[in-house]
Amino acid sequence: MLATETKRIAPPKRLMYGPGPSMVDPRAYEAMAQPIVGMRDPYFLEIMAEIQAGLRQALGTNSEKVFMVPGSGSAAMEAAVVNFVTPGSKFAIFAAGHFADRMTLMGQRQRAVVVRLEKPWGEIFTAAEAQDFIERERPDVVGFVQAETSTGAYQSGRNITAAARAVNTLVIADCVTSLGAMPVEMDAVGIDVAYSCSQKGLSCPAGLSPIAVSPRAWERVEKRAELPFSWYLDLAVMSKYFEPPHVYQHTPSPPLYYAMHQGLAVIEEEGLQNRWERHRRAGEKLVEGLQRLGFQLLVKRADERIWHVTTVTPPDSVDEAKLREALLQKYNIEIAGGLGQLAGKILRIGTMGPLATEENVAFLLDAIAASI
Ligand SMILES: Cc1ncc(COP(=O)(O)O)c(C=O)c1O
Repeated sequence: MLATETKRIAPPKRLMYGPGPSMVDPRAYEAMAQPIVGMRDPYFLEIMAEIQAGLRQALGTNSEKVFMVPGSGSAAMEAAVVNFVTPGSKFAIFAAGHFADRMTLMGQRQRAVVVRLEKPWGEIFTAAEAQDFIERERPDVVGFVQAETSTGAYQSGRNITAAARAVNTLVIADCVTSLGAMPVEMDAVGIDVAYSCSQKGLSCPAGLSPIAVSPRAWERVEKRAELPFSWYLDLAVMSKYFEPPHVYQHTPSPPLYYAMHQGLAVIEEEGLQNRWERHRRAGEKLVEGLQRLGFQLLVKRADERIWHVTTVTPPDSVDEAKLREALLQKYNIEIAGGLGQLAGKILRIGTMGPLATEENVAFLLDAIAASI
């Protein structure tokens, strides 16, 4: 008998209050059940173009170079690094969390000279620190994480881009957690390469990750002396599929495109600013409620917090692993623990997409209150 013969897929219906993956919007679910078409089907190319237009709005860019990397957020991070961080070049990283560390590892694999400005996890970088670091190091490329999901800290990047532009350095920004829930504002901030994911602020499943490249960064792609080590993630090769005449490079997954199309449609209908505001308000309510229950915030300053990923240390009497287990068992609620040096120490709670409402925050707080 086949192992799969008797089983239908019937996963539990979890409430995804973690830092990602988040709840999938019902419209994205429905879209994923629609028929598959070919990779150059006129219908598919229309969907592709609409996704690119929607992403331009959500990312805040007029750049033509917006692509969807087939893979999770790390694939888009790797695409950013392999295309712009060349062997022997200097890559400066603003490091205060797990995902900045991941960017570091990718830069090292590129055989770049990676230099880091480190701060305690949960903090962000001031304009003076950024300027001092960049002027001292004179890097070819800098990398920072706009919304550091491992700590809950947000920084737009304005402090970093100002200093980088002054010395003609490209800026790569990890926007994996900011896109769709908080401002990315790629052009206004001055980001050259912004990458993200589908499974957080866009309310879609993982597997298709946006990347956008500014015109001045694209010039570097066009003028580069050597090909990047990766063929699959070579943006010059990949771009030929995303732009007419849509030359085959890889086979896209239509359900993921359909989902992203609908995720973006939902954002467009609500209005990006309204959506940000909804996430901000929900985050504030959660912070207030958690403080009332005795939790302490990891990110001390309110204006440095990710609105939709709240990071807290529980009161001494609460075991974080047991609390997560109780929420899952009793309420089907998923929240997350810490990563890396914060593992076992903090909880990371996401209020994204459909869950970013006062009612859903109140429900979560009640469940937590009943479980501690
Ligand atoms: C800020 C940040 N960067 C990168 C990643 C990696 O994304 P993925 O897990 O989709 O590969 C994550 C995932 O949570 C993230 O939060």
